Amino acid sequence: MRFVVTTSYKPTKEVVSSARGLAEELGVKYVSRSRLKEFESEHSLDFYYVFDKNGQLTIRNRETVFFFHPGMSKVRFKNMRIQDSDYLIKSMDLSGSETVLDTTFGLGNEALLIAHYLPEGKVIGLEASEHIYRIVSHGLRNYPYADEWLIEASKRIELHNRDLRDFVKGCEDNAYDIVYCDPMFDSPQMRSHSINPLRPFAMYERINRSDVDEMIRISSKRFIIKSRTRDSLFEELNLEFDRLWGSKKSGVLYGVIDKE
Ligand SMILES: C[S@@+](CC[C@H](N)C(=O)[O-])C[C@H]1O[C@@H](n2cnc3c(N)ncnc32)[C@H](O)[C@@H]1O
Repeated sequence: MRFVVTTSYKPTKEVVSSARGLAEELGVKYVSRSRLKEFESEHSLDFYYVFDKNGQLTIRNRETVFFFHPGMSKVRFKNMRIQDSDYLIKSMDLSGSETVLDTTFGLGNEALLIAHYLPEGKVIGLEASEHIYRIVSHGLRNYPYADEWLIEASKRIELHNRDLRDFVKGCEDNAYDIVYCDPMFDSPQMRSHSINPLRPFAMYERINRSDVDEMIRISSKRFIIKSRTRDSLFEELNLEFDRLWGSKKSGVLYGVIDKE
């Protein structure tokens, strides 16, 4: 994909310097915002990274803006508070000191929720897409969170730009208390506006049974995998779940394999 790094209009020196630094790291050109239109008309760009004055990082093109936001974690946090209900949190059955490996981090909305319930633990996240990793790792650290619980939860998350399929092979047996996997669905849930801008950058390659066997091997308490009711993933993997959590209404299922 062809892309460059720029800033918002009238950037400070610090913002220009951060944008130049990112361009260098990514091995692409830094283009000043005042020259961007001209540059775009000469080189057909797929998108550009924008560092803005408030320290936020986004990816933009004519159609879309992709940025980090904790949206769904806030909704689910509220549901937990009011109704004590969230299928993922319930299926994890956390004591609060676990280390959870979230192998498909995405926007990290579920990771933030999980991290809230780990006052003595942490979440290690893996994200294979370099662009999602860049936006989300920057966002996790720099987002202007209005809620104290999100500030604290974000500090308990460590994110790596790794493909889970390679990563798990290098891990020892029982290395993480809980391993969680939420791959992209076959049939996208277009209603999920929070995930839509992430789609063009996401990794869609299917995980297979041997990837899952590795994830089970490196979890000491449990392995959890998410799928939609109408996806064929669970059939393909042919796993024997100890529990299946979810609702017909949401069409989302969490398959749980207990190791203890
Ligand atoms: C459905 S999203 C995860 C959403 C996430 N649970 C959240 O709450 O925001 C799936 C993410 O996993 C990433 N992914 C897919 N396959 C992967 C792999 N093999 N290794 C690491 N990340 C992967 C995709 O790029 C995408 O960002």
